Amino acid sequence: MLRLARLAASVPRLQARPTTNSRHSMAYSAKIGPSILSSDLSCLGSECVRMMECGADYLHLDVMDGHFVPNITFGHPMVECLRKTVGQDPFFDMHMMVSRPEQWVKPMAAAGASQYTFHLEATTNPGNLIKEIRESGMKVGLAIKPGTTVEELAPWANQVDMALVMTVEPGFGGQKFMEDMMPKVSWLRSQFPSLDIEVDGGVGPDTIHKCAEAGANMIVSGSAVIGSDDPRSVIALLRTAVAEAIQKRSLDR
Ligand code: DX5
Ligand code: ZN
Repeated sequence: MLRLARLAASVPRLQARPTTNSRHSMAYSAKIGPSILSSDLSCLGSECVRMMECGADYLHLDVMDGHFVPNITFGHPMVECLRKTVGQDPFFDMHMMVSRPEQWVKPMAAAGASQYTFHLEATTNPGNLIKEIRESGMKVGLAIKPGTTVEELAPWANQVDMALVMTVEPGFGGQKFMEDMMPKVSWLRSQFPSLDIEVDGGVGPDTIHKCAEAGANMIVSGSAVIGSDDPRSVIALLRTAVAEAIQKRSLDR
């Protein structure tokens, strides 16, 4: 409770709405991106195809370098293979949990990544990195770990396509959802009404309503989708919850 109050207090309250020069002119919509981290990694290609066939809107690919996070997954050579397997259409949101995000921009673009989501904590020059990602032809996502405030993300929000609010400490699938991150999502939604806001970590049928009500519209779900006997129904349930919250918000305006 104390922790919740402290985090809520760290959310900035009075700030001018930075609506001018916003790159988010389109209304946002509900999108579900399975994280394939918890799938059988020896079958990543067929798992990606299966997720798209089950109605996924995009694929969330977790890149870990064993340094920024205490775990290691895969890099751009794997992305290149996945792109060949799934074809040109699926949107690849690369969640770059790496210490030197600058290093992988060009290789990821060449491998077929659609969006490069880097961590604010991993760079000293977000502005330059945003520029490099865009010049490489990818969309830009900006992620914050649970200990980072939205105040730190806010100055960049109008320059990126998506903000990712982590709802677990990055590194592993299957962790408990941190509800005390929701004030960050609500604040971002109030300040940036058209921004794509993603949540990642512990999100599934039990926690989706909190995320949807707070204003998240891009939903990463790993174990809840991959571990289900019926991923199609879970994806549909998640999307309906978000779509209903979006509709309610637009009626409340
Ligand atoms: C954690 C990763 C997540 C993770 C989500 O560091 O960024 O994408 O795979 O998995 P679940 O939904 O199981 O928490
Ligand atoms: Zn992730």
